[in-house]
Amino acid sequence: MGENIAIIGGTAGVGYSIAVRLAKIGKSIVIGSRFQWKAEEAAKTIKNTLKEAYVEGAVNHDAVSKAEIVILTVPFKAQVEIAEGIRDFLKPNSILIDVTIPVKRSEDGFFSLIRLKEGSATERLRKIIPENVSLVASFKNISQHVIDSLDYAPKPSILLCGDSMEAKKKVVNLINEMGGEPVDCGPLSNAVLLEALGVLMINIESVSRRNIYVRFEKISD
Ligand SMILES: NC(=O)c1ccc[n+]([C@@H]2O[C@H](COP(=O)([O-])OP(=O)(O)OC[C@H]3O[C@@H](n4cnc5c(N)ncnc54)[C@H](OP(=O)(O)O)[C@@H]3O)[C@@H](O)[C@H]2O)c1
Repeated sequence: MGENIAIIGGTAGVGYSIAVRLAKIGKSIVIGSRFQWKAEEAAKTIKNTLKEAYVEGAVNHDAVSKAEIVILTVPFKAQVEIAEGIRDFLKPNSILIDVTIPVKRSEDGFFSLIRLKEGSATERLRKIIPENVSLVASFKNISQHVIDSLDYAPKPSILLCGDSMEAKKKVVNLINEMGGEPVDCGPLSNAVLLEALGVLMINIESVSRRNIYVRFEKISD
């Protein structure tokens, strides 16, 4: 079971899929929501199919106050407001994994990356989140549908970047346990590249009407 993992925005979408996957591998999770009832309902739904799951629901700030790892999975437009609502409740030395993609739909129906002066959506959080919380960008290049059945061969590559080696190591372990192939992409300043890949994949899925995943293979000598 180990550490508690809070998923902010875990009542639907990619956050819910991550929550189910983590519950399946025996992690202790807290689903965070703006609404207590919604969080409890999502936790109950998971419990109904995974009887042994360690899962509870709580409002966002309560959820993070119980967690060593927090995963932020909310729409880009809500990211700052939600981050400001949880920042004072984050545990010192915890890890925040940001999944947000700054994406907008253009008039032609395609999707494009929103350019931010901070560089990326994750770096924008650095100014909001306390210094004693490590920030890692990850899960931006994996869709909820692929997470729903993370038993593919070869395993999907799940990219991550961040400034703390210790925090990245924990996220690498988590991705491995979930059944993905972690790929360390360096410092937090590379988060924009992960976000751009996420947007590219949304476009490819939209054109091909298929779910996709990427795999980075290391060529042996
Ligand atoms: N969907 C994917 O496959 C995928 C993959 C990679 C990355 N992402 C990124 O992950 C983030 C979440 O995507 P998603 O598709 O999972 O989003 P979503 O289903 O639209 O929303 C996820 C949760 O965010 C919470 N939320 C908080 N503030 C909100 C607001 N103002 N409006 C709407 N919902 C709000 C809601 O929970 P409560 O109502 O319970 O608070 C909602 O259940 C996005 O930034 C997206 O770009 C998504």
